[in-house]
Amino acid sequence: MPGFELFDQREIDAVTDVLKRKMVHRYSFQDKRGGIYRVAEFERAVADKMGAKYCQAVSSGSAALYVAMRASGIGPGDEIITSAFTFIASVEAILECGAVPVLAEIDESLNLDPGSAEELITDKTKAIMPVHMFGASADMDTFREICDEYGLLLFEDSCQAMGATYKGSPVGTLGDWGTYSLDPYKLLTVGEGGLIVTDDEELYDRARYYHDHGHIHDMDIPRGAEGKACLGFNFRMSEIQGALGLVQLEKLDGAIGQLKANKKKILEGFKIPEDVELRDLPDRGGEIATQLVFLMPDAESARDFQKASGEAGEACGILSGNTWHYARHWKTLREGACYSRIRCPFDCPFAGELPSYRPLEWARTHEILDRAVVYGMDIFMDDARIERMQKAVRAGFKAAL
Ligand SMILES: Cc1ncc(COP(=O)(O)O)c(C=O)c1O
Repeated sequence: MPGFELFDQREIDAVTDVLKRKMVHRYSFQDKRGGIYRVAEFERAVADKMGAKYCQAVSSGSAALYVAMRASGIGPGDEIITSAFTFIASVEAILECGAVPVLAEIDESLNLDPGSAEELITDKTKAIMPVHMFGASADMDTFREICDEYGLLLFEDSCQAMGATYKGSPVGTLGDWGTYSLDPYKLLTVGEGGLIVTDDEELYDRARYYHDHGHIHDMDIPRGAEGKACLGFNFRMSEIQGALGLVQLEKLDGAIGQLKANKKKILEGFKIPEDVELRDLPDRGGEIATQLVFLMPDAESARDFQKASGEAGEACGILSGNTWHYARHWKTLREGACYSRIRCPFDCPFAGELPSYRPLEWARTHEILDRAVVYGMDIFMDDARIERMQKAVRAGFKAAL
């Protein structure tokens, strides 16, 4: 699945060039760098590709969520509604702001269910943040309608879905801001890194200042003298990652094309039985095909499928057991496991009665995840691997139904 499958001499040359020039800082050293700014080039290239006005590179996808939320003014007392099926970073970014994550149910797209999110809106809700899980867009038109109706911000955790589209528009560009992760598991990877895209100039400026200790980044003035707009922190990306990102970005479309071709070929190897479904995606053509999921009729048939598939040579997972992505497994969230004496928002005077970040039963989410079997996809899958996968799926269906 990840972009490091595609590393070749071009990435090696791009990184070597940065090292040979000894210019690893994205800012500063104006008189020595000959006008070369790789991170800034990468940001411009991403913004242009996504059709966003602005892009801010940061040190991780988690940092992208956090910096964008800080730039949006999220703080203690605010509630953000997001999904019970996501990576914990979506929730931690909210907690790091001292705000309250409110975790709603998913639907059969495996993304946040708009109806469930709407039910959890209170007078403290500031934003809804759908997560485009496994490379496929959430139902963004409905989220836009809900956010407009209630006067809420719309954030997109598109960390798993760089390159995916919804009705022709790249995910990440449909809300007030969106984020991409460039970590080692992602389709476009620079080792560790993240991106924020937005059309909002003020938000972009705030993110740019905040991610670098408040620096205003006037490149005509030495870094120590340029002045600061706010308190912030260090979430900078280095030139090594910027150079890597520029090469990887050129490979993104090809990688997506290859993943889609692999998935199509695999699906040609069997007929999907009547009571089995693919994810119910609002825009199937826009997914980046990083996973293949079947929704089986029930938990028992999913377990039978998994066993038979493994025996036929291709292991698959059942998503209710996914400790990375399913909030029911997050003991640290349930316990509010923080090191500080006052644990905002857990003991926060602004938060009042804490709502649903206490694990609800998430009955619908659990029911769906319990019957969802998943295979990870790679960019390079030869015919033998594809045939093995087809054989495993056929064996799974036969054993389960
Ligand atoms: C949905 C989601 N949000 C946020 C992140 C955080 O990204 P990073 O690992 O780059 O910090 C991830 C990473 O897997 C993710 O899957």
